[in-house]
Amino acid sequence: MLRHIVSASQFDKKTLEKIFSTASKIKSGNYSPKTLSGKIMATLFYEPSTRTRLSFESAMLRLGGTVISTEDAKLFSSAAKGETLEDTIRIVHSYSDVIVLRHFDSGASEIASKYSRVPIINAGDGNGEHPTQALLDMFTIFSKFTTKNLTICMIGDLANGRTIHSLSYLLSLYPQIKLIFVSPKALAIPIDLKNHLKAKKIEFRETEDLNKSIKISEVVYQTRIQKERFKTKKDYLKYFGKYILDESSLKILKKSSVIMHPLPRVNEISKEVDTDPRAIYFEEAQNGVYIRMALLILLFDKPHPKPR
Ligand code: NCD
Repeated sequence: MLRHIVSASQFDKKTLEKIFSTASKIKSGNYSPKTLSGKIMATLFYEPSTRTRLSFESAMLRLGGTVISTEDAKLFSSAAKGETLEDTIRIVHSYSDVIVLRHFDSGASEIASKYSRVPIINAGDGNGEHPTQALLDMFTIFSKFTTKNLTICMIGDLANGRTIHSLSYLLSLYPQIKLIFVSPKALAIPIDLKNHLKAKKIEFRETEDLNKSIKISEVVYQTRIQKERFKTKKDYLKYFGKYILDESSLKILKKSSVIMHPLPRVNEISKEVDTDPRAIYFEEAQNGVYIRMALLILLFDKPHPKPR
């Protein structure tokens, strides 16, 4: 049974299969719109969001639940008055049955989970993790490919990109998959993730060469340079625009490959790419609602009481 969803590293293959089969059923319209009637979700977002927040809220409403929210938790919750996250959680858990939390500090969801009586779902914690994005990314990948002969290349700000971290943790459950990390050296994947991949015997490579990497990959996972994680604008601009997928990339890419992106994009995928059938980032975002519905169903799915 699912409880708090804090890190992608908490999932095993069996749980993933359950989540994905539930999401597939939902995608084909097979769910009851009253499943979560009477349940309340609190969305507590201390950082901006479009997809994650709205797809969580949509998921809850589609299942018959309701949503309470603060417009911008950093500005409009009591955090602006100096309240700690712990205290906020101790209050919000008595108003809701599940809390979806996005916070600017890595590790915030882990802390929140220690104080919460209701499940905490990490919707992004600083440059830490974004486990539910990774679930929808995996669901999207598995809807196109099997794990056999699969090379996935991840591009961009791999140091700060929390979707990259979580997706890599999930992918490490499948040792057949090969990974290529494309980034400037200063924005390489964190050392603890690297050690994790090594321990799991995952074949991976780090490089700065975009074209060579996308040429041999089935999944090209592009990401944004995480502007908000840089100390100065100058630091950010050093990397902004370094890796762009455009019409020329489409010529290099295999016919059967796909281009993914957690979105929002800034300039790292040119608009001309959008109409190419290999560009699946909008479909990927749409899968977010099915995955989040599946997670909510499984989260509230109490085991049947044992017969006496
Ligand atoms: C991502 C995030 O917030 O980490 N967005 C999302 O949730 N889809 C990616 C990003 O902001 O670059």
